[in-house]
Amino acid sequence: MATLTVMPSGKTIEVGEGTTILAALLGAEVEIPHKCEGQAKCGSCHIFLQEGRKGVSKVSKLENEKLDSIVGVGSKSRLACQATILGTENVKIELLGFGSGL
Ligand code: FES
Repeated sequence: MATLTVMPSGKTIEVGEGTTILAALLGAEVEIPHKCEGQAKCGSCHIFLQEGRKGVSKVSKLENEKLDSIVGVGSKSRLACQATILGTENVKIELLGFGSGL
């Protein structure tokens, strides 16, 4: 288990190993766009990974390619549907305003 802290609200969620950040958020009733339902195709689940980089799966080729096509991407950008909690470290993410990255 790892603790996922969601900014800007500061809400914390206990997340089991192997769970995607998207699934963790939706399971905790945190609203996040996910238009392609986790296929790494829409980019609407774009988030910033603020802390705990080592506690999250590496960026896949598919995710990287999608991120490359999104406006406003930075070094902390991830797709919530592709980033899996490893359970080794607590993680803090920042949700972006709805409509960004679309
Ligand atoms: S839900 Fe579409 S890219 Fe993540």
